[in-house]
Amino acid sequence: MVKNREFEDISFEKINRLPKYIFASINEIKLRERRNGKDVIDFSMGNPDGDTPKHIQEKLIEATRKKGNHGYSVSKGIYKLRLAITDWYKRRYGVELDPDSEAIATMGSKEGYTHLIEATVNVGDVAIVPEPTYPIHTYAFTLAGGTVRKMKINFNENFELDEVQFFKDLEIAIRESVPRPKYVVVNFPHNPTTVTVTKNFYFQLVELAKREGFYIISDIAYADLTYDGYETPSIFTVPGAKDVAVESFTLSKSYNMAGWRVGFMVGNRKLIGALEKIKSWVDYGMFTPIQVAATVALNGDQSCVAEIRDKYRERRDVMVESFANAGWHLGKPRATMFIWARLPEKVRHLGSLEFSKRLLLEAQVAVSPGIGFGEYGDEYVRIALIENKKRIRQAAKNIKRFLKKF
Ligand SMILES: Cc1ncc(COP(=O)(O)O)c(C=O)c1O
Repeated sequence: MVKNREFEDISFEKINRLPKYIFASINEIKLRERRNGKDVIDFSMGNPDGDTPKHIQEKLIEATRKKGNHGYSVSKGIYKLRLAITDWYKRRYGVELDPDSEAIATMGSKEGYTHLIEATVNVGDVAIVPEPTYPIHTYAFTLAGGTVRKMKINFNENFELDEVQFFKDLEIAIRESVPRPKYVVVNFPHNPTTVTVTKNFYFQLVELAKREGFYIISDIAYADLTYDGYETPSIFTVPGAKDVAVESFTLSKSYNMAGWRVGFMVGNRKLIGALEKIKSWVDYGMFTPIQVAATVALNGDQSCVAEIRDKYRERRDVMVESFANAGWHLGKPRATMFIWARLPEKVRHLGSLEFSKRLLLEAQVAVSPGIGFGEYGDEYVRIALIENKKRIRQAAKNIKRFLKKF
């Protein structure tokens, strides 16, 4: 008799490399509290609360009603969208890119990032990723069989990167990596720390990449969400950066289009080519009307972006002021939709996860524990500016009561 194979012997080793999301435990408590009738003020996710601007919604409806727009689309993005992407770079940064070989539309920037790594990382390849980090920036490599070398992000009270320390640490990390790193990932303005860099940062980084032979992935998801005169630089303002770099952007934050799943990646032809190839195997492209509406978002009136930016800035200011009255002194970020908040000294011993759980249960305020972004984040929580000013003030009142217990 043939013995059946034991199912226990079949392993899913690859998926098991992904740990349980630390944020899931906060989410579970949040849902339970809400089910019990509690009004949770939720700052825990980077999920924009506003609606997509009307003219973009209208374009989606119009394009959906048009004949011939319902079949499989083009996986690398329709030509007009790729042209809108390269025009965006030209207008904004004075950078020339070829829409056919140096630009690709992606289903949100997370999809493009993960597929690029899936397509180009061999088992054992090394990537250097500054930490704390947006989790997929490391786990995309883990999933692909690569190894990640962490590097602590150091910054000043204005959330500006300590660039001197960064390059010292990076040079050490490169020297100590076996094999030599294939990728260095940068994400400025940074999630979760909100840290920003100068233009000069990219000059140094590109020079180092050329000398040491690694590729750079630059994620500028928060490029539009900047305040107090700060402007996000692009790596491509450095001459020759295309030899070593790709950069990704998303419509999720700038246009409140997180649910639409539209983003893009541009730059180095070899890497864009690899991404194009893997995408042509695994997907048929975004729904054409979404691509048409995304084209309109990028090419159209940008006052909607300014409105979204102003909304976050106002919330940031209200939060910093009202939380200070509650006894929690926060730094003011110059970018992103977050505040990277060091725990008040008297509760720091709790660590970020325990603090976040208690804040949720005892003050009905949900935040993301910094430990979820890596071990260097454990003295912090990330507060997303996705609740309105009235709710921010209410949260401050709850927090004041909560902190009095310690
Ligand atoms: C740094 C960073 N990159 C990428 C993304 C993913 O955005 P999307 O896939 O919606 O474009 C996010 C989302 O929060 C992010 O914070």
